[in-house]
Amino acid sequence: MQTRKIGSFDVSAIGLGCMVLSHAYGNPPDPKAAADVLLKALDFGYTHFDTASLYGFGANETLLGNTLKHRRREFFLASKCGMFRGASGGKEIDGHPAVLKQNLEDSLKRLQTDVIDLYYLHRWDKRVPIEDSIGALADMVKSGKVRAIGLSEVSAATLRKAHAVHPIAAMQSEYSLWTRNPEIAVLDACRELGVAFVAFSPLARAFLTGDIRDPVQLPPKDIRLAMPRFQAPHFQKNLELLDGFAQIARENDCTMAQLCLAWLLHKAPHIIPIPATTRLDHLADNARAADVKLKPCAMEKMEALVNPQTVSGPRYNAAQLPEIDTEGD
Ligand SMILES: NC(=O)c1ccc[n+]([C@@H]2O[C@H](COP(=O)([O-])OP(=O)(O)OC[C@H]3O[C@@H](n4cnc5c(N)ncnc54)[C@H](OP(=O)(O)O)[C@@H]3O)[C@@H](O)[C@H]2O)c1
Repeated sequence: MQTRKIGSFDVSAIGLGCMVLSHAYGNPPDPKAAADVLLKALDFGYTHFDTASLYGFGANETLLGNTLKHRRREFFLASKCGMFRGASGGKEIDGHPAVLKQNLEDSLKRLQTDVIDLYYLHRWDKRVPIEDSIGALADMVKSGKVRAIGLSEVSAATLRKAHAVHPIAAMQSEYSLWTRNPEIAVLDACRELGVAFVAFSPLARAFLTGDIRDPVQLPPKDIRLAMPRFQAPHFQKNLELLDGFAQIARENDCTMAQLCLAWLLHKAPHIIPIPATTRLDHLADNARAADVKLKPCAMEKMEALVNPQTVSGPRYNAAQLPEIDTEGD
C-alpha cells in the first residue's frame, strides 16, 4: 500500500482502527476471529494499527499484544491514554500527569512491547492545563517508552498550545463526508504545523457504506444507537443520501466504503483514515481504496450530496458533547 507520514515515520495510507474488535459496535468477534483480522491486515499491507486503553477497557490492547508481539517491528503502533476504565468501573477521563504515566505502564504491559510509536491524549481533561498533560507525554518520549505524541478531538487553539510544549506528530479526530468539523480550523493548523491528521470513523460509522438501512439492525449495546444521526427523525432523512452516494461509487468503479476513503485521501496528503472492520472481505476492500482513481468532478459531486447542510442531526448526543474540545474550532 502507498504510504503517508506521521512525524518521521512512513505508515500505510490507510490504517486499521482496532476498536470494533473489542468494543463499541455490536458484539465483538471471538478472539480467534479478531486475531485473524489483525494478522490478515499485515498481509494486506496495513502498517498502522490504532488502539486505546479505553477499547474493551484494556482488552483491545491485550488482543494486539497477544496477536502481534512477534511481529512488532512490522507495524506502527498507536495507542491512547487519559480515557480508561476508572475505579467506579465506568469510563473516566483524567489527564493528570501521574495518571497518564500509570496509563502508559498499563498499556505497555498489555501490548507486550517496550515502546509505543504514537501515544495520544485521548481526550483533553479540561480540569488540567493542556500544557501539563503534554508535559507528561513529553517525559514519556524522553524516557524512550513513547516515540511520538498525538492529540484527539481538540480544537486548533489547544493543538497550538500543546505543540508549543512538545511537537505533536498527529491529531486524531472524527472526519468523513458527513462530519466536517476539522475543516473549520484544525486541518489547516495541522498542515501549518506539520502534524498528520488521522481521520477516525471515516466510513461514518458504517452509515455511508450503505450496509445499515435500519437502526433495528444494530444490536442493543451498539453505541451508535445513542447517536442522534442513527435515531429518528435524522436516520430516515440521512437514508435519502445513500442512493446518490451509491451512484457516485458506481461511476468511480468502487464500493461506497472505498469512495469514503478515497475522498479523504484526495482531500489532502496529510490525512490518514483509519477504518475499522471485523470482516476480512471489508479489510481487503478498504485496503484497495488507496488505489481508487476518482473521475474528474467526483469530489465536487460527493461534497454537493453529503455536507453539513444535507446531513441531519449532530454527531454526538448532549451527554457526549462536553467531552469534545470545540472552543475556537
Ligand atoms: N480518537 C477517538 O476518540 C476515536 C473515536 C472513535 C473511533 N476511533 C478510532 O477510529 C477507528 C475507526 O472508527 P469507527 O470504527 O468508529 O468507524 P468507521 O471506520 O467509520 O466504521 C466502522 C464500521 O464500518 C463497517 N465497515 C468497515 N469496512 C467496511 C466496508 N468495506 N464495507 C461495509 N462496511 C464496512 C464495520 O463493520 P464490519 O465489522 O461489518 O466490517 C464497522 O462497523 C476505530 O476503530 C478507532 O480505532 C477513535
